[in-house]
Amino acid sequence: MNSSAKNTKESAMETRYLIMPNHTNHQGTAFGGTIMSWIDMIAAMVAQKHCGREVVTVCVERITFESPVNIGDHLILKSSMNYVGNTSMEVGVSVIKENPFTGECVKTTSAYLTFVALDENKKPAKVPQLIIETEEEQRRFDNAKIRAESRKELLKKLKKKE
Ligand SMILES: CC(C)(COP(=O)(O)OP(=O)(O)OC[C@H]1O[C@@H](n2cnc3c(N)ncnc32)[C@H](O)[C@@H]1OP(=O)(O)O)[C@@H](O)C(=O)NCCC(=O)NCCS
Repeated sequence: MNSSAKNTKESAMETRYLIMPNHTNHQGTAFGGTIMSWIDMIAAMVAQKHCGREVVTVCVERITFESPVNIGDHLILKSSMNYVGNTSMEVGVSVIKENPFTGECVKTTSAYLTFVALDENKKPAKVPQLIIETEEEQRRFDNAKIRAESRKELLKKLKKKE
């Protein structure tokens, strides 16, 4: 385990898929569930790299599908650490489709995922701090903190009513 603070560049990742017929739904466009599994996978790897531990997905939110993806498109997934709490981390994923022949790029999907780091006994473990270096990283960190705090408030309120 690596417990020292890290910047976002140390864990950020980018990957790309060629959309094939086996990735599509009955309408012939990319199946959202397949894209969601790719999002979960890249975000989990970013979280693992940041904390140097096994992680589990605890929450996926604000996932949007803004433009259909077609067979032959290149799908580019960019993922980086937005925020760290005590044992949890929010990772952002942005998905862009690229026409490989014209180079035209269109943003299709974005999502925020929260992971919890686990120790050797599968219990939540403290994660390294995130070193913020740019205004954009600070904006992402602040927004993710608002999401984490409002989620905790909401869960508390919902529990009271159950
Ligand atoms: C993730 C898990 C270990 C957390 O256990 P827990 O007993 O709720 O742990 P805690 O209450 O100590 O919370 C740990 C962290 O998770 C966060 N958390 C817990 N429930 C959450 C939720 N519903 N949404 C967002 N964050 C949540 C807490 O805020 C806390 O963050 P912090 O330490 O940064 O403040 C447990 O819920 C679990 O095992 N879930 C199943 C995960 C899974 O199977 N995922 C799918 C496959 S990867």
